[in-house]
Amino acid sequence: MATVLRCMECGAEYPLAGTRYRCDCGGLMDVVHELASLAVSRELFDGRMWERGPEPWRRSGVWRFRELVLPVEESSLVSRPEGNTPLYRGPALSRVVGLEEFAVKHEGENPTGSFKDRGMTVGVTWARAIDAKAVACASTGNTAASMSAYAALAGLMAIVFVPEGKVAAGKLAQALAYGALTLEVAGDFDAAMALVQESCRELGIYLLNSLNPFRIEGQKTIVFEILQDLGWEPPDWIVFPAGNLGNTAAFGKALWELRELGLISRLPRLAAVQAAGASPFYRSFLKGFSPLEPVRAETVATAIRIGNPVSFPRAVRSLRWTEGLVVEVTDQEIMDVKAQVDAAGIGCEPASAAAVAGTRKLVSQGIIRRGERAVAVLTGNLLKDPEATLAYHIGKLRGIEPRFANRPRRIEASLAAVAEVLEEVVR
Ligand code: F0G
Repeated sequence: MATVLRCMECGAEYPLAGTRYRCDCGGLMDVVHELASLAVSRELFDGRMWERGPEPWRRSGVWRFRELVLPVEESSLVSRPEGNTPLYRGPALSRVVGLEEFAVKHEGENPTGSFKDRGMTVGVTWARAIDAKAVACASTGNTAASMSAYAALAGLMAIVFVPEGKVAAGKLAQALAYGALTLEVAGDFDAAMALVQESCRELGIYLLNSLNPFRIEGQKTIVFEILQDLGWEPPDWIVFPAGNLGNTAAFGKALWELRELGLISRLPRLAAVQAAGASPFYRSFLKGFSPLEPVRAETVATAIRIGNPVSFPRAVRSLRWTEGLVVEVTDQEIMDVKAQVDAAGIGCEPASAAAVAGTRKLVSQGIIRRGERAVAVLTGNLLKDPEATLAYHIGKLRGIEPRFANRPRRIEASLAAVAEVLEEVVR
């Protein structure tokens, strides 16, 4: 068996090539690697960490794991490179969550400022390999920014569908700047998602949402890298924000494959964190993973303002594999924790802070026990959403009490005014 596409519902198999992202039965597809035939090891992947060379893919934290991502010619890879993101830890972070052994994997330090670059290097490489002329996605902003950049690099036309008025400034600016045809859809993300699927089907455009199984293969490498960062000693928990549930799908598949390959012997538990105003996955979890009931989503964390996540079945599978769980946090918790993560000199966008707020909540509930080790994934960069950050610090974020505000102070242009402020602050 070579690498194939397999339906996760009915098991039907299809060749890799082509533009199929759903089975005839409607099920979601997996890229299935013939794991038993792969000559991979910790040593192979560790050795490649120090690989250097002029081609970007040699320094990519995605293509370092290429056997477990996609079998393609190295010369065809569209890479910036991406991945190799830092793992931060320290007393300030530990204090926020109340856990000694706590680290954050900063995916916001990818080339376009979010984890999406890991899936997009694979998706766009594949789009070019199958000779697609145009690529499209629906997006709350980060997928749009990433796809626009990678498509431009590959010489492909990019079309992004975004919910009008609900995309953070940094992300919208990126899509426009990278030259994507940007369609502001009168509706929410879920409406844009439905429209892009119909448009791709009817107009022959290649779909690059995380519905696309090649995107998932790239996003698995977040987990591969975390394990590698920790010397292949699994943490007890991996905590991350969940919106459309692509990462939830990818992380479970990554861990399952690593264990099948014998690269790890124990699975960390996955904890998916949703914003309380956009938590259909959490509600399903509470009822033993009952069928998804879409909701009308609203949250300050616009990246995860999603009411009808497309990867739901794959995400449920991931949590079952890993004894995982779902937790929800309020916008107030998200923004207060974000302010603390930012003030530690790390910085992230609101949706990312949900992962840390979720960790804190699980620790306070005793579900993550003191003494356990947790890694939270920061999915996007601080600069993505300057409006939310500024509004918080000046007390203008509706419904949020800024408990960690750092207000700017207006002063006269005089030394006396500076001295006066300093005296007040230091006192
Ligand atoms: N964090 C950030 C910063 C995101 O942009 C997203 C998703 C998520 C978390 C949730 O990840 O969808 O895999 O559960 N952003 C998508 C987008 C929807 O269009 O950029 P997920």
